[in-house]
Order: sequence, then C-alpha cells, then structure tokens
Amino acid sequence: MIYSEIVGYGDYLPKKILKNEDLKKIVDTSDEWIFTRTGIRQRHIAEKTELTSDLAIKSAENAFLSCNVKPKDIDCIVLATTTPDNTFPSTAIKVQNHFKINNIPAFDLQAVCSGFIYGIQVADSFIKSEKYKNVLVIGAETLSKIVDWKDRRTCVLFGDGAGAVILSASKKKLGILSLRIFSDGKFMESLFADGGPSLNQKVGKIRMNGQDIFKQAVTKLSSSTLEALENCNLKIEDIDWFIPHQANQRIILGTAKKLGIDIKKTISTVNFHANTSAASIPLAISYAFKSGKIKKNDIIALCAIGGGLTWGSCILKV
Ligand code: ACO
Repeated sequence: MIYSEIVGYGDYLPKKILKNEDLKKIVDTSDEWIFTRTGIRQRHIAEKTELTSDLAIKSAENAFLSCNVKPKDIDCIVLATTTPDNTFPSTAIKVQNHFKINNIPAFDLQAVCSGFIYGIQVADSFIKSEKYKNVLVIGAETLSKIVDWKDRRTCVLFGDGAGAVILSASKKKLGILSLRIFSDGKFMESLFADGGPSLNQKVGKIRMNGQDIFKQAVTKLSSSTLEALENCNLKIEDIDWFIPHQANQRIILGTAKKLGIDIKKTISTVNFHANTSAASIPLAISYAFKSGKIKKNDIIALCAIGGGLTWGSCILKV
C-alpha cells in the first residue's frame, strides 16, 4: 500500500495588514462587531502588483526550504485557487515556470474554500496510482481583489495568503489515511461571485447569505469528518489536532463542539489571517508545524467548506 506523506510545508502572507480598526475608514463597522461575530482581528492584503502566483511561489519556496525535496523532484503541481492571475493559463503554470520544472502536469483546481482538501485528494490519488512520487499542492488566494469593498457584510471576512505542502509517496502508514469530498449545487446561490468569463466577461464580486452558510458549515463539516474517521477506523478521541477551514471562529467552535473535540486541540488562525479560502488550511498547517504544536505520529483531522457548496475532510498521520 502506498501512502501520501506530508514531507514539506510552507506559507506566505503579504506584508500589508488591515486591522478591523482600519476597516472603519472603509465601511460602517466596528472591531467589536467583527470580532464578536467572527473572531477576526486583522487580515493580510496583497498589493495591486502582488499576484496570486507571487504568493503561491513564495509559499512553495518555503515548503522546499522545510524539507529535502527539491523543485526538480516534483512531478505534479496542483494549485487550488478562486483568484487566479489570469482566466488562462492556470496559475499553476506560472509556479511551474518559476521553478523551471519542465514537462510535468501543473493545473489549477477550483473548489473555492474546499480547494485544498480537493487538491490533496487529487494528489493522493495520483500518488496511489504510482505514476507520481512528489506532488506540490498549493492553496493561494488574493480574495481582496474580488471583495466588494462597499459591502460590510462580506468585506470584513476575507484576507490574502498562500500555503503549500509537498506530498511524497511512502510505504510507511503515514500521511493521508482517509479523505472524503462532497458537493451540492442546490446551495449555489448562498455564496458565489456575480461575474465570470462566460457569464458577463467580468471577474465579479463575492455575494453571500451568511446565515445559510453558517448553518450548512457546522452540519457538513462535522458529518464529513465523522465519515473520514470511520473510513480509517479511527474515533474522535484519536484526534490530536483539529485543523478546520478558518472562516469564522464561531463555525470552528460550533463544529468542534458538535464533534466533541476539545477546543485545546483545535488550531485557529482566523484572528490574524481572516478567511483566506483555499489557502486557509495549508496556512494553518504551516502555523501548527512551525509553532511546534504538531508532534511526530500525531493524528490530524482537516475539514473545509466553501462556495458550491463544496466540502470535505481528511485524516492525516504526520
Ligand atoms: N459591521 C457592522 N454591522 C454589520 C456588518 C459589519 N461588518 N455586517 C452586517 N452588519 C449588520 C447587518 O446590516 C445587520 O443589521 P440590520 O439588522 O440593521 O439589518 C446586522 O449586522 C446583522 O446582520 P446579519 O447578517 O444577520 O449578521 P449575522 O449575525 O448573521 O452575522 C456573519 C453575519 C458574521 C457573516 C454570519 O452570518 C456568519 O458568520 N456566517 C458565516 C459566513 C462565513 O463565514 N462566510 C465565509 C465564506 S464561506 C466559507 O468560507 C465557509
């Protein structure tokens, strides 16, 4: 049996920080409203000239620095994003070109905030097929560029950033033990961008029914995590670290409570990153490794939900 082991991780956040206090100059809001409802205090914002590919490349450079795998060893790049540099070619191609890794598949994957979980599902299947040994999976976003800065209900929630992991084939029972991904288009109108190349030749801005999303998030994140656990014969008590999508602290707490996971085992970065969509989980993974929280042989549960709706969960052993 071949497993996909996480051998490297890295992250990158743009230098510019926008605090809740700064948002008061843009929309009618307050630090108190934002923090109480979301747990967010600040978000990183890319400069106009700073592209999703720039963030992705920096997070991948940091992932290479964290391990012995070199760019020349990578045989596939999967980049999850909702904010690609161009309509085409893919942002993954820009990463491939930067590292001069020729003649390998490199492609973008669009599953909004669940993009990283979908991405590691693709990488795991590729590795299990024994055609690929080292897959670079990146979640990278510049959501600030598609936020409606006049809409206080959404603009306070999002931020920019990128996270990357390198998954390598292993014969040891390490890495991805179980993965479950889902989607349901009947919730399409709860969260979407009101533009697209085919629809109106515009990029569009984020539109959201926050209460719909909240309700669906807690239910779906917990059910998919239970399915993923069952799929590898593990139980809630076996989880050492719970790393959910970093959308909102109330969703994180609600899901942990529903699952019966001790809040001390939950990684939360939402207060300083806000919601970075596909970048949120790899950013939180990188934070958890760098802060020394995750130890060898720990069992980690990941879960995410995003526009579509799309959602999914993964159980990992590090
Ligand atoms: N500052 C001040 N007031 C605000 C703001 C703001 N930023 N935004 C909305 N309000 C006002 C509204 O206008 C409304 O005022 P009104 O009663 O006078 O009309 C009032 O606050 C309450 O608005 P609601 O939308 O009902 O607020 P709610 O308590 O539902 O909180 C929130 C909104 C935080 C978005 C919540 O619904 C939520 O957390 N939803 C989850 C959505 C989410 O996390 N999305 C991220 C993307 S999806 C994903 O990643 C999974």
